[in-house]
Amino acid sequence: MRKKIKVAIAGVGNCASALIQGIEYYNSNGNDSSMNPDLKIKESDGQSSMKDTANSSSTDNHIGLTSYNIGGYEPGDIEFVAAFDIADTKVGLDLSDAIFASPNNAIKIIDVPNFDVKVQKGDVLDGAGKHFSEKVTISDKQTTDIAQVLKDTNADVLVNYLPVGSRTATRNYAEKCLESGVAFVNAIPVFVASDTNWQKRFVEKNIPCAGDDVMSQLGATVVHKTLAKLWVDRGVIIDETYQLNVGGDMDFYNMLDEDRLEDKRVSKTSAVRAMVPYDIPMRIGPSDYVSFLKNDKVCYIYMKGRFFGKVPVELDLKLRVPDAYNSSGVMIDALRASKIALDRNISGPLESISAFCFKHPPIQMPYSQAKSNFMDFVNGKRDR
Ligand SMILES: NC(=O)c1ccc[n+]([C@@H]2O[C@H](COP(=O)([O-])OP(=O)(O)OC[C@H]3O[C@@H](n4cnc5c(N)ncnc54)[C@H](O)[C@@H]3O)[C@@H](O)[C@H]2O)c1
Repeated sequence: MRKKIKVAIAGVGNCASALIQGIEYYNSNGNDSSMNPDLKIKESDGQSSMKDTANSSSTDNHIGLTSYNIGGYEPGDIEFVAAFDIADTKVGLDLSDAIFASPNNAIKIIDVPNFDVKVQKGDVLDGAGKHFSEKVTISDKQTTDIAQVLKDTNADVLVNYLPVGSRTATRNYAEKCLESGVAFVNAIPVFVASDTNWQKRFVEKNIPCAGDDVMSQLGATVVHKTLAKLWVDRGVIIDETYQLNVGGDMDFYNMLDEDRLEDKRVSKTSAVRAMVPYDIPMRIGPSDYVSFLKNDKVCYIYMKGRFFGKVPVELDLKLRVPDAYNSSGVMIDALRASKIALDRNISGPLESISAFCFKHPPIQMPYSQAKSNFMDFVNGKRDR
């Protein structure tokens, strides 16, 4: 019998939907017959289908993952045991239905079975911002005892997927993890794993934490920080840069409220700034809401500088991605590695997992270094 990773989710939005569907997809061994037919690449498109290539093997079906097996754990070893939300469209539903409830609009890639896990109502606190409240009605069901649910379900890890700006609500879930002995994986830009006071508290309770603000697989942050590092390594002086992002989901609608954005700007900017050993004008962050983009996110990166002979050079890049799916593979890695930390009785901030999987980790480093440290951690060559 395989060892399971028991996961609780706070915030059943688009990211939760993509994570859960993705795990179902890879658990069915990336079998194309189980996949939404609209998403299959057709031979007539001039490309080979994932299933039908001459060398179709399990490796083909694991496309999109860093690694199918990490430290003995496969995606299908992740099991959802509890879920918390506050929206009346989601609370009370089975998690398998709640992920498709309004206002979620991440694309559907696969049917998921009933989990027999009811979404329970968490403490609202600052989870509902002013834009959120225009589109979502808060459930009138009774608030649950989160720490008790985490204990009763024997959760290993709680993943925090609350809206940007949910500082108090995020800290409340972190407290419940400390109370119930559950590891905390923080996908959002509220600083817990990267905050020294919280780090101490997780060490004292002998519980691991990882975060903060998940860094997408091929998202604006990893592309921008890698380009900045490349320019610096190649002797190109960067004079100025911006990264503008637009999207059409609740995440972007909520982020129209500049008051909730402070930590998001700090998180995204610090990831790029850490790659450049001098100060430059930089503007990085979410920029607007465009409803017809739905869960697609479009990012524009601009960099201007000087290379050989002080001759000017400019770069303009556009990247369009289904946003929620962009973070799911990374989260699968973060959850598996956090479970490895639990197995090894490692507590406090998980430095290499956080540097590899998150934008605002306790220690910021170039992506290649972060990946190498992460693999060393998984293979038992690093402590944390
Ligand atoms: N690639 C990505 O999508 C990506 C990358 C980095 C960070 N993030 C962050 O991850 C978070 C989740 O993103 P999303 O697209 O799923 O957002 P979303 O708005 O679709 O989902 C948030 C969910 O949290 C629920 N919620 C609000 N307050 C709550 C509370 N107090 N308790 C429990 N649930 C509560 C909402 O009802 C909603 O279901 C956001 O903060 C986003 O910025 C996403």
